[in-house]
Amino acid sequence: MRLGFVGVGAISEAVIEALLTGPNAADIEVVLSPRNAERSAKLAAKYSKASIGSSNQNVLDQSDVVFMGVLPGQMNDVCADLMFRADHTVVSLIAGMPPSTVAGIVSPATEVVQMIPLPVIAMHAGPLVICPGNTAMVKLFEGCGEIVVLNDEAHIFILSCTSAAMSTFFEYQNTVINWSASAGLPNDIAHKYATSLFKGLATEAMATPFAHLPEMPREHETPGGLNEHIRTSLIKAGMFDEVTKQLEHIYVTRNRTKKSD
Ligand SMILES: NC(=O)c1ccc[n+]([C@@H]2O[C@H](COP(=O)([O-])OP(=O)(O)OC[C@H]3O[C@@H](n4cnc5c(N)ncnc54)[C@H](OP(=O)(O)O)[C@@H]3O)[C@@H](O)[C@H]2O)c1
Repeated sequence: MRLGFVGVGAISEAVIEALLTGPNAADIEVVLSPRNAERSAKLAAKYSKASIGSSNQNVLDQSDVVFMGVLPGQMNDVCADLMFRADHTVVSLIAGMPPSTVAGIVSPATEVVQMIPLPVIAMHAGPLVICPGNTAMVKLFEGCGEIVVLNDEAHIFILSCTSAAMSTFFEYQNTVINWSASAGLPNDIAHKYATSLFKGLATEAMATPFAHLPEMPREHETPGGLNEHIRTSLIKAGMFDEVTKQLEHIYVTRNRTKKSD
């Protein structure tokens, strides 16, 4: 399968790294757009299966699947200069632009998929949203992270709000790490212990059925113990009510303006 990338920026690079170090690497060739020149040259030097096309159109002409990795505001202009083929599969990495909108600008191609990767896909980790669940794309990305198939594009926006909890997670984690260090743990131990703790908890949560999730807080604390003290104090302080309130706030206000980040 020949995969073309128009717009080789931060997220395309992470996706290319994932694919070319993933379980299907032997079956693919990657053709990169001349932009970003530095990044494309770096990837072509690193991987024998990656080459640079002479223009965006040349990338399309050599590809079965075209990944669009430009910024949202550039997508219309870039596509206006391109001739897609009916047999192209177009994978849009563009945030805030649903597949039905992309389909309107990549005609005559009709097989259009939106993917929402995170930079950590380069390490074959994190969620990879694929909407709709194109069979060939789901198979291509097996082993490159946790594939989350959405068949209703209206659900993409809910996931955008969910992913807005990311930086808050780091703030919480940093608070724990910094307190441990300030209490006397060496920085590297504070870092290693807390990140491993949260990674272990996330692994456990992923293996837990949805119906059992409400039990997890109590299962991870002793009545009257330290965990219970912190959790109930934060509940009393309104922290979790505030998380729900702010998720609802961005869902309602951003949905109105159709913006995302
Ligand atoms: N970063 C993330 O975590 C993330 C996650 C999910 C989705 N996304 C989406 O992915 C897209 C790219 O984001 P990014 O963070 O990777 O941005 P980025 O690093 O700025 O990448 C954009 C790339 O597009 C290139 N470009 C601009 N005009 C072009 C043209 N006419 N032809 C070919 N390439 C062109 C730029 O090249 P120059 O540098 O030469 O201008 C740059 O390499 C965005 O639409 C974003 O919504 C990003």
